[in-house]
Amino acid sequence: MNNHLSDGQGREINYLRVSVTDRCNLRCAYCMPPSGVELYPKCDILQYRELLTIIESFAELGVKKIRVTGGEPLVRKGVVGFIQQVSEIVGIQEIAITTNGIQLHKMAGELKNAGVSKVNISLDTLIPERFKTITGFDGFNQTMHSIHSAISSGFESVKINMVVIDGVNDDEIEDFVRLSVDMPVQVRFIEFMPATPQVWDESKLVPMDKVKEKVERIGKLVVCGRSRWGGPAEIYRLEGAKGEIGFISAVTRHFCSDCNRLRVNSKGKLLTCLFGSDDLDLKELVQSGADKEKIKKAIQTVVLGKNDIRTMIANGDSTRGEAMSCVGG
Ligand code: 5AD
Ligand code: SF4
Repeated sequence: MNNHLSDGQGREINYLRVSVTDRCNLRCAYCMPPSGVELYPKCDILQYRELLTIIESFAELGVKKIRVTGGEPLVRKGVVGFIQQVSEIVGIQEIAITTNGIQLHKMAGELKNAGVSKVNISLDTLIPERFKTITGFDGFNQTMHSIHSAISSGFESVKINMVVIDGVNDDEIEDFVRLSVDMPVQVRFIEFMPATPQVWDESKLVPMDKVKEKVERIGKLVVCGRSRWGGPAEIYRLEGAKGEIGFISAVTRHFCSDCNRLRVNSKGKLLTCLFGSDDLDLKELVQSGADKEKIKKAIQTVVLGKNDIRTMIANGDSTRGEAMSCVGG
């Protein structure tokens, strides 16, 4: 068996997103239904050592970049030690984390020392009151504090994820652009996706072309190169700015043909696409004592069936039927 991972369309897979928990300390309105989500039973969540076996298998297949996600990854105990162990896996060259920033300010230095090089922080508004409305928690200052801590900890990149939602925060696009001028961060505008069926409302989707038009009215955009295992964002910089601006058209433009990522959720399911359903139960494999060769073979087989064309808007919901917080964004 060759040690290589590619899908049916010949796309090479080198990027794995690992959700360490489905728990979150926020309740973002676009991610979770107001009633909350049914959490996975604790006993279903993979142990770190099981996750490490899985990541080692992926690394042997050529995965080089790991992104640790949740829920909110920093609410899981021991996550720093886990990341340290991931950084010791042969072949893993980059570890990134996606966090909501509520606790990051306390942990930024430790995470950097453990091997995290890139941090994405979710922040959808610069208005404290609105932060509370969107996330259900009065945590704006904590998140801003975390952004500053992340910058001063010296990560290779600090990115701010802003999901643009019509009538909720689309009036703040200019203010976020200004953030990218004043601070060495990449502000990423993300289209609202139909990921969580209970909260999806197509009328609240702001197409990225519209966002970009608004930004172009502020100043001249200069194209920036993509990073090595970079995702589907189009990256620009306003002339003279300290930071960058990314546009992620998750809905209006299909970027499936460039998709280089897989996801493992906190129950050990391998998801080949956010909108697919061809899971592989890695937990079952690991717990049944399968060796890495067996795990790798199973992964290769499932990945060959990785989806291409997404029809999520046409379907009006995700085929997964789970909140985004269970999948890790
Ligand atoms: N649409 C777009 N992005 C989403 N996220 C969660 N739910 C959605 C959604 N419906 C992303 C946000 C957040 C990350 C954790 O997941 O970018 O920053
Ligand atoms: Fe918000 Fe992320 Fe938590 Fe979802 S997982 S509620 S987007 S902080």
